[in-house]
Amino acid sequence: MAKILIRARLLTFLREPQAAHDHSSYRYEEDGAVLVEEGIIRAAGSHSDLAAKAGPDAKTIDHRPHLLLPGFIDAHAHFPQMQVIASYGAELLDWLNNYTFPAESAFEDEAHARRIARAFLDEMARHGTTTSAVYCSVHPQSADALFSEAEERGMCIIAGKVMMDRNAPSALTDTAQSSYDDTKALIAKWHGRGRLHYAITPRFAITSSPEQMEMAKALVAEHPDLHMQTHLSENHAEIAFSCELYPDCADYTAIYEKYGLLGPKSLFGHCIHLSEREADALSDSGSVAVFCPTSNLFLGSGLFDYLRYRRREKPLRIAAATDTGGGTNYSMLRTMDEGYKVIALQGEKLNPLASFWQITRGNAEALSLARRIGTLEPGKDADLVVLNSSATPAMRLRMERAKTLAEELFLLQTLGDDRAVVETYVAGNAMKGGV
Ligand code: GUN
Ligand code: ZN
Repeated sequence: MAKILIRARLLTFLREPQAAHDHSSYRYEEDGAVLVEEGIIRAAGSHSDLAAKAGPDAKTIDHRPHLLLPGFIDAHAHFPQMQVIASYGAELLDWLNNYTFPAESAFEDEAHARRIARAFLDEMARHGTTTSAVYCSVHPQSADALFSEAEERGMCIIAGKVMMDRNAPSALTDTAQSSYDDTKALIAKWHGRGRLHYAITPRFAITSSPEQMEMAKALVAEHPDLHMQTHLSENHAEIAFSCELYPDCADYTAIYEKYGLLGPKSLFGHCIHLSEREADALSDSGSVAVFCPTSNLFLGSGLFDYLRYRRREKPLRIAAATDTGGGTNYSMLRTMDEGYKVIALQGEKLNPLASFWQITRGNAEALSLARRIGTLEPGKDADLVVLNSSATPAMRLRMERAKTLAEELFLLQTLGDDRAVVETYVAGNAMKGGV
């Protein structure tokens, strides 16, 4: 594969920024370039240094004056819920029963699953997202569809079929045994192939019997290197029903603890209403709490206390996510804009550098993928996003008064969406236009 020299303003994070003026937390190159070969970043730095290093055979793509960052990472999304977005008027459990479960039933049809998997990965690319942790439907063929489409695009994806054996329509339930068998077969088929990662995915305590939770426990014990993803503490009715179904557990988190599901590769969507004990349990185990602001607002689930979770004596590892389906936008820019407002409603402000750290390096660290993605360091996979801070008339006008990088990032977050994404590279291949 030919060498590509991508010229732009570069931004990559070195650590979590503590304030909008925390300049040592990032590296910014005004006339920068990334040298990509065989899908890998070989070097990133000033354009003049890299042009010499690249040699005459490198193809140059000039994105100036746009900003180039590591591709965005989405830590929680449901690809079978693309046609559920914008379903009116329900809280979580009614929303699941009235809209989500019927839509997911259609994924028994492999052709439908393929069509939506393609559309989902195209939307990711259009919005600058290069990696996502994805819930498939209960049907193994939905996971086959997503993984094979992601493999074709060379994408780094974490995904799993949901395990669910009760409290859902019969067309959408597996059994404890079949969920174990299907998960085992999918792990054998897909995990570690190309850039694909399988996540053991018990949907949530309400839709898994104790027998199925035992199977999830066995799967996690047999595959300790795999991710586990589920939902936790999203909505008051959900919490009450979960505790009713597992009366021997002191709280919702204790259900997942009982079945050995906490740990550094465990991703818990929502985590809005945690008690101090539950937050301690997540922190002690290195589990990740996933902030899904557009979904939490849309379903009226509650306000995730991001900064309190980060600053508590036992801090939580946090990822940010769209939760597409319940979430209302594919864009991590829109997600962090709503996230900023959720945090503001609790009397605090998340600085714009920290927002962009979160959706790049921060999410890579939370997903234990920082060895491969999330920064522009040599040796990392060349997953990149190019952003135009003047993409719309309103942005252009506001940009006239932006004096600092932090101001520019904040306007990208506040006014930006897919229109601000000029290009998305997956392993060095331009993807915004689709495959
Ligand atoms: N809890 C269990 N399943 C789901 C889901 O699909 N979306 C959300 N937001 N919460 C859930
Ligand atoms: Zn979810």
